[in-house]
Amino acid sequence: MATQQKTKAKAKTDGKGPAKKGGDTLSVTDNRTGESYEVEITEGTIRTMDLRQIKVDDDDFGLMGYDPAFTNTASCRSAITFIDGEAGILEHRGIPIEQLCEHSTYLEVAYLLIFGELPTQPQLDRWVYDVTHHTFVHEDIKKLNEAFRHDAHPMGMLLSSVGALSTFYPTAKETGDPEERYMAAIRLIAKMPTLAAFAYRHSMGFPYVYPDNELNYSEDFLSMLFKMENTFEPDPRLAKALDILFILHADHEQNCSTNAVRAVGSSDVDPYSAVAAGVAALYGPLHGGANEAVLRMLRRIESKENIPDFLEGVKNREEKLMGFGHRVYKNYDPRARIIKKHVDEVLEATGENPLLDIATELEKRALDDEFFTERKLYPNVDFYSGLIYEALRIPTDMFTVIFAIPRTSGWIAQWMEMHDDDEQKIARPRQVYTGKRDEDYTAIEKREGPEKITGPPAKRPKLIRRGA
Ligand code: ACO
Repeated sequence: MATQQKTKAKAKTDGKGPAKKGGDTLSVTDNRTGESYEVEITEGTIRTMDLRQIKVDDDDFGLMGYDPAFTNTASCRSAITFIDGEAGILEHRGIPIEQLCEHSTYLEVAYLLIFGELPTQPQLDRWVYDVTHHTFVHEDIKKLNEAFRHDAHPMGMLLSSVGALSTFYPTAKETGDPEERYMAAIRLIAKMPTLAAFAYRHSMGFPYVYPDNELNYSEDFLSMLFKMENTFEPDPRLAKALDILFILHADHEQNCSTNAVRAVGSSDVDPYSAVAAGVAALYGPLHGGANEAVLRMLRRIESKENIPDFLEGVKNREEKLMGFGHRVYKNYDPRARIIKKHVDEVLEATGENPLLDIATELEKRALDDEFFTERKLYPNVDFYSGLIYEALRIPTDMFTVIFAIPRTSGWIAQWMEMHDDDEQKIARPRQVYTGKRDEDYTAIEKREGPEKITGPPAKRPKLIRRGA
């Protein structure tokens, strides 16, 4: 449980000059009033609430911070994942990602994220047993999947089936009950591969494959995706590569989807609904959807000769170089470095992929180009992961679904930490209101103004569907 040291703004100073030097405080002078204030600094942060005392007069609401995309606002204190974006460092519970990828397994990392420490052998055995024995889903979830169109995006299917899980486990809304929390953690981690594979099999028109509890986590997922006959022998090299991808995607502190899980979870909704919010956030092309976008981009570039023209287009802001850039990393994403090492091993097992040559050349040219270096744009985790997924014969629109499988453990760890944090309340940001005030209701015959709805009457747009 995170214990918090409450910090309070010191009383404002007499306004006759800056506060005395020294101490972990920030002195602020409000030039509107000439008043000075001293605000405590803890762990490199000030509490934005401490600004509220800064007022022009007694009727003033008080000063607020304005940070539309949380670019410089910490929303929580967390002990799960550490990132140093300038140095390209990623650690879970203090252990470098490189060591975890070399020595651990995804399920062990999931335990580490949730419980805070590496498990002993009996602890790990119990954990793996529990996850392995909750991989099956209710048959009605299968029916839910069957209701989707054949060309439904699997991420949309996953989103709805994760949300639907909350209806199968109504007691999960007892969020303060440790047993309920544990069951939700186990179920979500265990069932996510099953739900992901069902979405894939549906989109291919193949019969669903049930989990095989004799296989390990990543082997079982490969089996549910690809098994066609009665037996399926997953290639251990591919299962290992997938497990490493799972480790690399397990958590990444307060990213867009984790923030969504925490924000939605702060309403005290059940964990399945909170995790469904994470799946929705991950779907977007600026977040987890980027791996899908990278592959589409590489295919569009088609050959190395077209790279200079493509990069010109990026620099002219016609489009983005997908898989490049990160809000936090201003250096090579350490996850991208690890994935890059494994691409070759996977291609050895599956055969060459010409897109790898395009990706390698694209990276080289971008890293030699001032436009990218000046902005500290480096490859992120999504730049190479798609190439491994493709080598595993996983269709492009499944890439983000696969990202959601391991990120589930991070979402749950963050959700639990949020619930144990006495300082957390329902997430409810403030706004800077910019609209009109004190307007009177105008009778309809007296209203005028420019047309707001333009174009032809609304009708169903013609969609180009897969297979059409
Ligand atoms: N291609 C071209 N230019 C870029 C890119 C890119 N991929 N990313 C950022 N830039 C440029 C911006 O245009 C901006 O330039 P400017 O200052 O001249 O206007 C500058 O770099 C800073 O970019 P911001 O958009 O301010 O950076 P932000 O932190 O808001 O965005 C993001 C980060 C969303 C990841 C962005 O880099 C991006 O869109 N990348 C492509 C999508 C992608 O790969 N997403 C996956 C991220 S990893 C993950 O979610 C798992």
